[in-house]
Amino acid sequence: FLVDKGNHRHFMEKEIHEQPEVISHTLANYLDFATGGVKLFETPIDFAKIDRLYISACGTAYLAGLIGKYWLERYARLPVDIDIASEFRYRELPIVPNSAALFVSQSGETADTLASLRYCKNAGIPIAAIVNVRDSTIARESNGIFPTLAGPEIGVASTKAFTCQLSIFASLAIRAGLDRGTLTREDAAAMVRSLSEVPGLIRDALKLESRIEAIARKLSEVRHVLYLGRDTNYPLALEGALKLKEISYIHAEGYAAGELKHGPIALIDKHMPVIVLAPSDRIFEKTVSNMQEVAARGGRIILITDEEGASRTSLDNIETIIMPKVPEFVAPIVYALPIQLLAYHTAVAMGTDVDQPRNLAKSVTVE
Ligand code: G6P
Repeated sequence: FLVDKGNHRHFMEKEIHEQPEVISHTLANYLDFATGGVKLFETPIDFAKIDRLYISACGTAYLAGLIGKYWLERYARLPVDIDIASEFRYRELPIVPNSAALFVSQSGETADTLASLRYCKNAGIPIAAIVNVRDSTIARESNGIFPTLAGPEIGVASTKAFTCQLSIFASLAIRAGLDRGTLTREDAAAMVRSLSEVPGLIRDALKLESRIEAIARKLSEVRHVLYLGRDTNYPLALEGALKLKEISYIHAEGYAAGELKHGPIALIDKHMPVIVLAPSDRIFEKTVSNMQEVAARGGRIILITDEEGASRTSLDNIETIIMPKVPEFVAPIVYALPIQLLAYHTAVAMGTDVDQPRNLAKSVTVE
């Protein structure tokens, strides 16, 4: 069917703004907001029985899987192996008994992800997929799917598919935690409540667009950017860097904040902005000390945090994007918004082809 840009300049901008709605739709498939429980959705993976889950995907879908690993391990105590699909398919790993595999793909057609799926199928373990295109090859070859209800995603740089994938991982972590007895009904209800707040929190984050646009205009003048985060904000730092390089062609790297001193700190000078993703959570202070290391070397910091985080940081040469206060569990879904908007507005300021960036394809069906 016909998909148009509506009042938006680019599909990417439209898709960023659709997120509150498509996340609501996706979550409603898995969670029951009225009772604070999980819906009895069908799953080919018996979370109570497995000892290990293999996740494999490419690009942004891989980074959603990386955040999924943090959640499934923390809340459901389920060990997760995650790999980039082009590595997984060739590295001849042993598939252990009592395991299952989960593939993540917007298009459902990515060649390396499909090959990984077939590798696991050969090993005889249950296969599930988080897909946006329901009649795709990956969907067909899985034993069952967890559909994202993002609607067609046209912009090459994935935005709404990513946050819908995260919404499913969060729901699966609750389901798996209940099935495995690692979460109580009360724990689960609190987590469902946090997820129910996500669409509203994203609407609040979207109100920061003009502030983010002003920062993006300055970002469009630099050559290199470093993104830092800890815990679930570490994969998000990788996604922030990926998004920026995809559409603005600025060289960007994402790092776990604790790794700063093991290499990237050598690059810090006044020409290299460091974007720090740090909601005020239990490890906030650790990230503050990394920011001090950057500031002491004359680095420019752009801190994405909440009011409490901003008030706990007193540094020179720092710009802040003040986010709404977000429950820790769902922070990476909401903090995806500022990194998407930063990449988008930087690319617009540079005049690149935002929806069709050079050399990239929406769906990579060749090796
Ligand atoms: C391409 C796209 C990315 C996407 C990746 C995986 O590289 O440009 O945006 O994340 O493929 O695609 P998939 O359809 O499997 O999620």
